[in-house]
Amino acid sequence: MSMTQSYNQKSLRPEFQAALQEALHYFETPFYAYDLQTLRSRLTQMQQAFPSAEIFYAMKANPRLGILRRLLEWDVFLEAVSLGEVHRAYRAGFKKTEVLLNGPVKTPAVLQELAEIGVPILGLDSLADTQRVSQLLPGSRVLLRVNPDLPIATHDHLATGRGESKFGIMPDDVEKVLAAARRGNLEVLGLHVHLGSALSHLGDYHAGYAVMEQLYQQHGPFQVLNLGGGFGLDLDPASLAPSATALAERLGAELWLEPGRYLVAEAGVLVSKIWGTKRTRRNFMLLDAGMMTLLRPMLYAAEHPVIPLYKGKKMQVWDLAGPVCESGDILARDVQLPTPKEGDALAILQAGAYGSSMSSNYLDYPRPLEILWNGLEWEVLRRKQSWEALFADEI
Ligand code: LLP
Repeated sequence: MSMTQSYNQKSLRPEFQAALQEALHYFETPFYAYDLQTLRSRLTQMQQAFPSAEIFYAMKANPRLGILRRLLEWDVFLEAVSLGEVHRAYRAGFKKTEVLLNGPVKTPAVLQELAEIGVPILGLDSLADTQRVSQLLPGSRVLLRVNPDLPIATHDHLATGRGESKFGIMPDDVEKVLAAARRGNLEVLGLHVHLGSALSHLGDYHAGYAVMEQLYQQHGPFQVLNLGGGFGLDLDPASLAPSATALAERLGAELWLEPGRYLVAEAGVLVSKIWGTKRTRRNFMLLDAGMMTLLRPMLYAAEHPVIPLYKGKKMQVWDLAGPVCESGDILARDVQLPTPKEGDALAILQAGAYGSSMSSNYLDYPRPLEILWNGLEWEVLRRKQSWEALFADEI
């Protein structure tokens, strides 16, 4: 894993940090806290970089209704990958023309339910997917997802554009699937590529764009060019914008993007309290948040910056351990932090994306509270899960 982190390497907007300190008096930890202004400014950066693009926010990154409703007001559309997410999108007030449903498996039951609640735009991922959709939902507006078969540089779990991944239609098969879609009375809006997540190499995007350009020349024209999401936090969307925008213009297509992490990660933190320290062969802080609250460190060896919400003098190097009975339940390693007192709190940063959405009830931990700082007050987006809710579905 990483070299020792300097705890003050990253910081929060001072007003948000002050609000967090206050929140500690009212709310029980662990909780996720979001900053509306940061969310707004991330979106503005994206919109300014791509003024002509339609943005479909990948709601899997953070699906809280309170966040989706804000994005709806700000003219963002949604990218969903499950029936549940489509239900959620409609509940937040989005129309079926404002939701794109991707994903490699759409069962007949899912398609039938979509017919009842409203069919969104559909991203098709294979020949079988295309045939089933044309059978059960003829007339749908669809995009075909391409697997560009490129050596995308990111964590293995997050590389969707490699030839080995389960996603998309291989370039050589596009013709066949396209023909099936047209025969099956689907309205093909265009092609889609999503290379992977947490990408930081511009070269990967450019290689992906080149594959798309060739496919549009072979099989186009199409109304839409969907270049997906995947923007890593250290990637400036403005640096990609010229090539993406120029490509869409050359192809005479509308540009669609599907950012998730880029919009919400920096807008959220996970706040946890330290309930003790201990030393084995390593130096641990014992937290009330763990892998059930934030899975990313364990699943992807993801590194989240940490800042203390307390003052202390002596700096030491710590591992942050959760309460779960698994040795992998570590939220960060080798973090430099001052020595805490029992009940001191810290904030784990860049947790607004894939934090709460991947949290679980493992060990019967309730889902944590989620709150949003709107500049004036804290809004509760989701209460801490109750014991009744936790057990409600069991017979
Ligand atoms: N579009 C499609 C088709 C996707 O599958 C995804 C993410 C996105 C857009 C948004 O990608 P983003 O801009 O957020 O990178 N749980 C992992 C991330 C999985 C992403 C899955 N697909 C994590 O915690 O890093």
